[in-house]
Amino acid sequence: MRIGIASDHGGFSLKEEMSARLKNGGIDVADFGPVKLDPADDYPDFVLPLSFAVASGEIERGIAICGSGVGASVAANKVKKVRAALIHDAFSAHQGVEDDNINVLCLGGRVIGNELAWEIIEKFLSAKFSGAERHKRRLAKVANISD
Ligand code: RB5
Repeated sequence: MRIGIASDHGGFSLKEEMSARLKNGGIDVADFGPVKLDPADDYPDFVLPLSFAVASGEIERGIAICGSGVGASVAANKVKKVRAALIHDAFSAHQGVEDDNINVLCLGGRVIGNELAWEIIEKFLSAKFSGAERHKRRLAKVANISD
């Protein structure tokens, strides 16, 4: 699985740590930046390119990190075909994929520690959409809606 990761300054430290762990685990990671800590940067500049790459199929799943994870999830969910969720617990990390077919995980770098973030990422990446009819029906009701 090729995955992507992006952040802003608020998520930079967590991005660097999680990216290193993923690479150490042999996972193919595309880093959408930033490449250095810049306290004046803006999360859409990194989260949107990541989200477009998920939407196009260039990468299968994305991890988007800002300070709270809120801005990252707002930005990612603007992109068609992206289903992003801000998750800080292990249950939702796999259930969000199994039931809701999320393809972008958002995290708050100022909220969550490295170990829980890593556990969540492992669960997110190993989970598969169930394909159950009721879940497909629910997702169909929210597909292709945009403001
Ligand atoms: C940046 O200071 C901060 O607002 C951003 O990282 C994020 O938390 C927004 O939701």
